[in-house]
Amino acid sequence: MIWTIFLIFQAVLLYFLLTHRSRSKSDPPLDKGVIPWLGHALEFGKDASKFLDRMKQKHGDIFTVRAAGRYVTVLLDPHSYDAVINDSDSLDFTRYAQVLMERIFNLRLPHHQPSNVSALMKKHFMGVNLAALNSTMSRHLQASLKTEMPQNQKDWKEQGLFNLSYSLLFKAGYLSLFGGEQNNNGTDPSSVYEEYKKFDGLLTKMARGTLKPEEKRTAQSVRQRLCGLLAPAGLTQDSGASPWLHAYRRLLQEDGADEETQRKAVLMQLWATQGNVGPAAFWLLGYLLTNPEALTAVKNEFSAVSTMETSETSLLDRPVNTPVFDSALEETLRLTAAPFITREVVQEKTLNMADGQQYLLRKGDRVCLFPFNSPQKDPEIHHEPQKYKYDRFLNKDGSVKRDFYKGGRRLKYYTMPWGAGANGCMGKKFAINTIRQFVYMVLTNYDLELSDPNSQIPEVNASRYGFGMLQPERDLLVRYRPRNTH
Ligand code: HEM
Ligand SMILES: *[C@@H]1O[C@H](CO)[C@@H](O)[C@H](O)[C@H]1NC(C)=O
Ligand SMILES: *[C@@H]1O[C@H](CO)[C@@H](O)[C@H](O)[C@H]1NC(C)=O
Ligand SMILES: *[C@@H]1O[C@H](CO)[C@@H](O)[C@H](O)[C@H]1NC(C)=O
Ligand SMILES: *[C@@H]1O[C@H](CO)[C@@H](O)[C@H](O)[C@H]1NC(C)=O
Ligand SMILES: *[C@@H]1O[C@H](CO)[C@@H](O)[C@H](O)[C@H]1NC(C)=O
Ligand SMILES: *[C@@H]1O[C@H](CO)[C@@H](O)[C@H](O)[C@H]1NC(C)=O
Repeated sequence: MIWTIFLIFQAVLLYFLLTHRSRSKSDPPLDKGVIPWLGHALEFGKDASKFLDRMKQKHGDIFTVRAAGRYVTVLLDPHSYDAVINDSDSLDFTRYAQVLMERIFNLRLPHHQPSNVSALMKKHFMGVNLAALNSTMSRHLQASLKTEMPQNQKDWKEQGLFNLSYSLLFKAGYLSLFGGEQNNNGTDPSSVYEEYKKFDGLLTKMARGTLKPEEKRTAQSVRQRLCGLLAPAGLTQDSGASPWLHAYRRLLQEDGADEETQRKAVLMQLWATQGNVGPAAFWLLGYLLTNPEALTAVKNEFSAVSTMETSETSLLDRPVNTPVFDSALEETLRLTAAPFITREVVQEKTLNMADGQQYLLRKGDRVCLFPFNSPQKDPEIHHEPQKYKYDRFLNKDGSVKRDFYKGGRRLKYYTMPWGAGANGCMGKKFAINTIRQFVYMVLTNYDLELSDPNSQIPEVNASRYGFGMLQPERDLLVRYRPRNTH
């Protein structure tokens, strides 16, 4: 008994000695929180945006907080973001990415070769192959729309807009990139979507390691089912999947990844490629429907484009100029894209802030940018930042507006939904084109309106800050019917 108490005492003492940390002059302000080890983890996870706002009020644009045993230096001055994004020698992207991979997908890649994977992604999502992808996606989108929203339907049909947008885009994206029906053991894309949604709902908890025991079991079984469904995807050249997936599989095989590891990696790609587009399309349509002036502006632009076209179906799977739509989407993403940009400090670094201040970043800490709070919701940069203004990114003459200021200086980063630098989103062009095609098809072929004309855009689910596109707390009920059939 005495020994037990003694040992516990020793352990506690050792813990405090090992984790004790005080601020030195060159460190950013340090805020450990009152709870040992955990620090601010609970508040951080509950509503990161609110928490970081509170810390900013207290400490300014840079500070270090403790969360679940780790020290995270948060930087919120967009003028200084390049100092973090540019320095991939001291600030490493892959280590934290690997931690997340393991927690979420239970995935450990044998000889992780990020540069090869990046090259592959660039080739298929940014290069010459994009044209083929654009038109495959267009084809699947049309087919999905026809099944979900049949042209011969006469009456209004009511549905949640989030579920509608997410399920349609997921299915079309899944078929385009991961292959046709022959490729998922005869399972139709709807069931893949249902499984995927369950996985997606547990994702933030997996990433934070806060699953309850029964949730852990659910997560495991859903992951297993999804891996089973994805087993054949991209295995052979004629599997119906995109050439990208086949090449990705080959790269994994060359790396020595076994069959099970490959499936988990393919699941990770399913998440990376499908997790953001549906929610983004939802928010865009949601903002348009709750802002009639914006809806009219986008519709007018679309009808001007469509009169120049011969075939409605080929529209928008090639380059077109839609500045109003682009601004409406940019504004949507400003309000609803909230990724953390996280790096691990692998060697001590002096961070030079734009205002001339210098801070020491300690080896082993993490650095985190949160562009959602600044620049995206910063009132100094964007007037009335809570408000949806579809033309915020347009000049008076209709050209793209790129001039935004903070502290009297023009900003390089005034909105960052896609991340930045070498690890920014590779699928940006493809994603924009997909959302544009989707919104165009819906708005030109259907009457779509709010079920309750007084509905407001739903609040965001505050527990998802940091994981890309936000999701709504509740769905927004809409009704639709095909146009010109009544
Ligand atoms: C609205 C839709 C999307 C948004 C807002 C978005 C956002 C992002 C962000 C913020 C990152 C950076 C993550 C980080 O820095 O850790 C990222 C990475 C990535 N995105 Fe997207 N994305 C979208 C759609 C897509 C699509 C459709 C694809 C592919 C088909 C895609 C492929 C990728 C890839 C491959 C990366 C990883 C880059 C790397 O690891 O270096 N994204 N995306
Ligand atoms: C970061 O890199 C970009 C382009 O590579 C360059 O324009 C910029 O000046 C660099 N910024 C800093 C702070 O090093
Ligand atoms: C991966 O990259 C290395 C160099 O970074 C290169 O030598 C190798 O050929 C690449 N492998 C593949 C399969 O592209
Ligand atoms: C979600 O949308 C799909 C496709 O439109 C539909 O089949 C399904 O019933 C919807 N689910 C919910 C919960 O509304
Ligand atoms: C909010 O997101 C979390 C994590 O994805 C999820 O567990 C929770 O059910 C969501 N809440 C609502 C109301 O959808
Ligand atoms: C799907 O097929 C693969 C073999 O191609 C198999 O290993 C896997 O278990 C199957 N998954 C399901 C859910 O039937
Ligand atoms: C595919 O869509 C993107 C996004 O709109 C566009 O920039 C690109 O030009 C399109 N590619 C081709 C080859 O049509």
